[in-house]
Amino acid sequence: MARTHTSRVDKLLSSMGYGSRKEIEKMVRAGRITLDFAVLRDVAKRIPITPDLAHRMKIDGEALDPVAGIVILLNKPLGMTCSHNDEGALVYSMLPKRWRSRNPSISTIGRLDKQTTGLLLLTDDGDLLHHVISPKRYVKKTYRVKLARPLNGTEDELFNSGHLLLENENKPLAPAEMEIVSETEVLLNVTEGRYHQVRRMFAATGNHVEGLHRERLGGLSLPDSMVPGEWRLLSKEEIASIFQ
Ligand code: URA
Repeated sequence: MARTHTSRVDKLLSSMGYGSRKEIEKMVRAGRITLDFAVLRDVAKRIPITPDLAHRMKIDGEALDPVAGIVILLNKPLGMTCSHNDEGALVYSMLPKRWRSRNPSISTIGRLDKQTTGLLLLTDDGDLLHHVISPKRYVKKTYRVKLARPLNGTEDELFNSGHLLLENENKPLAPAEMEIVSETEVLLNVTEGRYHQVRRMFAATGNHVEGLHRERLGGLSLPDSMVPGEWRLLSKEEIASIFQ
């Protein structure tokens, strides 16, 4: 049976962005932290790190943030960058400010361009991140693509051929499936995540992508009910559905 990991309360809360270990010590001394409804008095107390801690521990009466091992689903708004240090609006600014100081840190699983919207995952689980983005896993990404000009009829065969070579690259793209919605709109399924991949695929056909929205990642869909900028944590089942 796997052993439950434990941590000193000051170390744990500091790694979750609640402040320095000194600051946590002050919070404990001030009686601001409770565990199972009892005020915590010992900053050196080792706490078992289990997901239910988020319900059992409270700080100033507020439930603790989720412990490490989280996956966040965000409906990425237009104009936001998937970077920790770019100038301008970053996707991380959509999450609680404290979460930017977590260790392990939260990163996006792959990236969407600034002008791309839709399903974006973020996690502090490095193994999961690598599994999802690994080309060997063939996790299908579905994009709704709006085009500046009508399709010319060659796209489907070209994208499916496994021979399309993007500019400045020497390895052809894996086959991609395309479903036509209208003459200027398609759903495109790709299994890789190369730089500006979808935009460059259509540029190779003489077209231009005007709107790009990711709707699906593996078996996980972005719910219609989630408005741009909205986010929530994924359940274990939803995380597993990515690989289905
Ligand atoms: N392909 C692109 O060109 N941009 C994205 O953001 C995602 C896929």
